[in-house]
Amino acid sequence: MSFTIAIDGPAAAGKGTLARALAAHYGYAYLDTGLLYRAVGARMLAGDEPAAAARSLDPADLDPTILRTQTVAEAASQVAVLPAVRVALVAFQQDFARAGQGAVLDGRDIGTVICPQAEVKLFVTASAEVRADRRMRELLDAGQPADPAVILAEVIARDRRDADRSTAPLVTASDATLIDTTDLTPAQALSRAIAVVEARR
Ligand code: C5P
Repeated sequence: MSFTIAIDGPAAAGKGTLARALAAHYGYAYLDTGLLYRAVGARMLAGDEPAAAARSLDPADLDPTILRTQTVAEAASQVAVLPAVRVALVAFQQDFARAGQGAVLDGRDIGTVICPQAEVKLFVTASAEVRADRRMRELLDAGQPADPAVILAEVIARDRRDADRSTAPLVTASDATLIDTTDLTPAQALSRAIAVVEARR
């Protein structure tokens, strides 16, 4: 039986950092499901039809270095509203969650739609300002110049699109534990998450 940790939350809340640390701590596999939508978004920008791109997605398409730009993030959140795109990506995510001894998946609908039976569900959030600031640092670290006001506006617009879409919107699962990372270091967020996991193991 595979143990699944589902992590959902808005953009740049610290989901990826926490998910990677949890996966390393427990020796579980990790899937950043945002990369799936980013890969489909990138294919749309290249002229492909999004649902067809989602159906023919190759794990080799999931190169984070190419996909972590604001343009691709924007395209990802546009294709993520399309039910046919979401449906095409379900099986890959569920197979990943079931394979091996344990898996950590992060995204927007993992605890609600993809893995509603997950043993642990975390909803990770932080204030929009702190999230925009983190995204800025990531972009600067990647050598991409960024304007703080523009990043904040994009974070807020993307949150709204993710929360307002009719298929698999970003909502907190009723059985999820909330972790607000606004005033937490990554190590503090990890120790809270470990406490939640330990209570369910
Ligand atoms: O997490 P990340 O910023 O990489 O996700 C990019 C976009 O992909 C999100 O804004 C969201 O629209 C979409 N997404 C989604 N469901 C997921 C993961 C990401 O709709 N499970």
